[in-house]
Amino acid sequence: MKFTLFAILFFISGTSIAQEFTLPELRFSYDSYEQGIDAQTMEIHHSKHHRGYVRKLNKAVSESKLEGKSLVDLLMYASYRSKAVRNNSGGHYNHTLFWEILSPKIKDSAPYPMTKDLENAINKYFGSLENLRKELSAAAATRFGSGWAWLFVTPNKELVVSSSPNQDNPIMDVSEVRGIPILGIDVWEHAYYLRYQNKRGDYLSAIWSLLDWSVISEKYTAALKDPLLIRIERENWPEMNTFHKVLAKTFHAAEKNDFKPIRLLSGDLYANAILLQDSDIPQSILKPKVASALIRLEKKCSMLHKQISKNAKNKSIMKSLSGVHDVFHEVQGLCHD
Ligand SMILES: [Fe+2]
Repeated sequence: MKFTLFAILFFISGTSIAQEFTLPELRFSYDSYEQGIDAQTMEIHHSKHHRGYVRKLNKAVSESKLEGKSLVDLLMYASYRSKAVRNNSGGHYNHTLFWEILSPKIKDSAPYPMTKDLENAINKYFGSLENLRKELSAAAATRFGSGWAWLFVTPNKELVVSSSPNQDNPIMDVSEVRGIPILGIDVWEHAYYLRYQNKRGDYLSAIWSLLDWSVISEKYTAALKDPLLIRIERENWPEMNTFHKVLAKTFHAAEKNDFKPIRLLSGDLYANAILLQDSDIPQSILKPKVASALIRLEKKCSMLHKQISKNAKNKSIMKSLSGVHDVFHEVQGLCHD
């Protein structure tokens, strides 16, 4: 009896801890999209390909000991993740968005209207909806091999079109311009080959006819208010990221009494501190305290580099390196205030 109760408790707690990603349902039946995409393609795409990304994502997350991380967290730091986590987290996010923005048009019923706000933004950044269609189609048509075409909101709240390879997307730190996608078009052959074969252009026209502008408008409104935009802006600071990488490599080794990395890389650390101080501080954290902390960081790195050039002892190097580390965390703290 005791054993049974224990087994039940173990089972319950075990299942509540393992929060796995799951395949979302489609909003309509597979054959509802026939005007643009045949039922067989929809079924294979959703029940085989997307299901495969979800299954492989759960496996990769478990192997990388990243259980509990949100999908957005996995995407944000894609460059630090394994290839399997990067590809499958993108695969899951991208397809989920794709299903959400497609709606079959019901004969003689009203189309899915876009909000005035989205219409104004499209006119502001592209001139017209027709120009946006052309830009998106060009991005999709010229994406070599497999990938996605995107319409997304940048941290400056601008609307931008881009394309990305494989299962990458604009949330990822590997993207040149980043933001929150509100419309994504799958240009992998598995999305269209059965009906359209090599005619990607025809497939793109079909997708255009299935776009649900009501849902895309909701996504636009939500993206403008999403704190993720600020996170992306703050973390999209290449000089800060490079400095962090060099500091992590040297400081953590020194903590374990290995001073070789810092003796080798103190010049690099100093050079990156200069670049960081000269860099454009992201708009949302542009404040005097951050700028003055960056000046102190550079001075401390300069002092540390001089010490190492004079072959100082490990103890005094550790003291100076800890000082650099403290100021660095002060800057990071200011960034998140
Ligand atoms: Fe796909």
